[in-house]
Amino acid sequence: MRRKLAAGNWKMNGTGADLAEVTAMQAGLPKGAEAPEVLICPPATLIQRMAAMAAPIAVGGQDCHSAESGAHTGDLSAAMLLDAGASHVILGHSERRTDHGEQDEDVRAKARAALAQGLTVVICVGETQAQRESANTLGIIGGQLAGSIPDLVTGDRLVVAYEPVWAIGTGLVPTTDQIGEVHGFIRQRLERRFGAGVGRSVRLLYGGSVKPGNAAEIFAVADVDGALVGGASLKAKDFLPIIQALADAGAREQGQ
Ligand code: PGA
Repeated sequence: MRRKLAAGNWKMNGTGADLAEVTAMQAGLPKGAEAPEVLICPPATLIQRMAAMAAPIAVGGQDCHSAESGAHTGDLSAAMLLDAGASHVILGHSERRTDHGEQDEDVRAKARAALAQGLTVVICVGETQAQRESANTLGIIGGQLAGSIPDLVTGDRLVVAYEPVWAIGTGLVPTTDQIGEVHGFIRQRLERRFGAGVGRSVRLLYGGSVKPGNAAEIFAVADVDGALVGGASLKAKDFLPIIQALADAGAREQGQ
């Protein structure tokens, strides 16, 4: 049984004042066996402060460099994230791929560096609108998975987030059939490459315009083990209902 994961990606949002939202989230977290794991990836400037107060919420980075140290102005190494209190790092987010030209091989090198430090990696894949329209979605996802995930992974330290680029921050969401098709495909590819044991234990998140109003429907899809949430993770009033919907989905599965 994979533990559900609700991950928040704060992107370039948040200063010290916003830690009050984390306090409000802590107070409203679901309790009990079905309680999902909750992760927030704030801007790097907040990692240390958030990690000092957020438990049981885990804290992660939004990117790291592939090198251990050196002349890379503005970058952060995986060891620095760990030192600041992060346990996870998002890698290959479409905004990194677009804004910074990150390629699959960059993501793979970063993932290798993060795994070597003991971080859990959340590797993002997803097709653009044009790729979906040219019926190329699974080809693109397959290529990104093959290129971005290192060979040496364990199921507990790898999370894959399917984030269609056209659904991020747009309010557009794929149908549940479309999400199910891609998640099933990702599961199959992971099992084929890493074997059934590892492949079945990797958590698969859906991301892209997840909101309190659509979360339950998305979490009912097979092979959706949680969500990577952008805008709706910034405020407790939005993130908590999503976390609760995930806890409810977990309780339903356990009751089956
Ligand atoms: P969104 O972002 O929830 O604001 O669409 C998701 C993401 O980019 O991780």
